[in-house]
Amino acid sequence: MKLEGKVAIITGSSRGIGKTIAWRLGKEGAKVVVNGRKESRLSNTLAFLKNEGIEAAACAADVSIPEDCRKLVEYAVNEFGSVDILVNNAGVGSRGYFENTNPDVFRQLVNINILGSVYPTLEAIPDLKKNKGSVIFISSLAGFRGMPDKAPYCMTKMAQTSLAESLHNELMQAGVHVGIVYVNATVNDPEKRVLNADGSWKPLLQRNSIWLDTQEDVARVVLNMIKKRQFKSIVGLKGKFYYLLQKLVPWFVDFTFRHNLEVIEELDE
Ligand SMILES: NC(=O)c1ccc[n+]([C@@H]2O[C@H](COP(=O)([O-])OP(=O)(O)OC[C@H]3O[C@@H](n4cnc5c(N)ncnc54)[C@H](OP(=O)(O)O)[C@@H]3O)[C@@H](O)[C@H]2O)c1
Repeated sequence: MKLEGKVAIITGSSRGIGKTIAWRLGKEGAKVVVNGRKESRLSNTLAFLKNEGIEAAACAADVSIPEDCRKLVEYAVNEFGSVDILVNNAGVGSRGYFENTNPDVFRQLVNINILGSVYPTLEAIPDLKKNKGSVIFISSLAGFRGMPDKAPYCMTKMAQTSLAESLHNELMQAGVHVGIVYVNATVNDPEKRVLNADGSWKPLLQRNSIWLDTQEDVARVVLNMIKKRQFKSIVGLKGKFYYLLQKLVPWFVDFTFRHNLEVIEELDE
């Protein structure tokens, strides 16, 4: 798919990976609709994109609320006429052992990471079918194998795989492209936070490790996936190496997780 003139909604794009995806798609000529909950952050992102010469609009909406997702898609259609691309990027991470985890943390992650991909997709499907467009899910290496200390996050990222697989099979005949990207730990925005087991928010310190990929690496993979209508993609060599390792020697990966929790901080957000 050529991106020139296409309309793309990127959920959770007021900062971080989503913002960089919006910038990348915009630089390829797409009209982008950025989204997030906090209006002030969204306005700054919109100003940044416009300053880069990108045709952009911003819609504050919470992807865990169905009515907000209807509003988001309607907004894109009103602004730019249609929707060709939906990138389900909004997501939050978690920390803490299962037995210490407040059930509300599970609820929040299910609502944002799973249902927050379901609702916008349901709203956009008529346009995506009409335009033979693309729907992309931003998953994680945590979607390959359950890690200790991150049960809510891993289970929600795994759920995105089955959702993408079902949709891939259901929508292929209609000409809709479905893609899922498995993202390695990525240089994060300083404002990024993850949910602790007790329900409090913990700032994620900016990590400094050779294991990290950049947000541009992720955006490049997403762009390629849309252009070549690929189904599954893993970001970077490190991500691909991890995928193979946990397939070939799962016992070694589990052993390492159990004995060195810091490895997980390095592996994924
Ligand atoms: N960073 C990593 O190392 C990494 C690794 C693997 C996968 N990923 C995945 O990549 C995606 C983006 O991660 P990131 O690191 O860029 O996150 P981030 O810096 O925390 O940014 C998250 C974005 O989503 C928005 N958001 C959060 N909850 C939302 C909601 N309910 N409705 C609408 N927008 C919402 C935030 O804005 P507001 O708070 O204002 O709403 C923000 O714009 C996530 O799906 C994550 O799981 C990240």
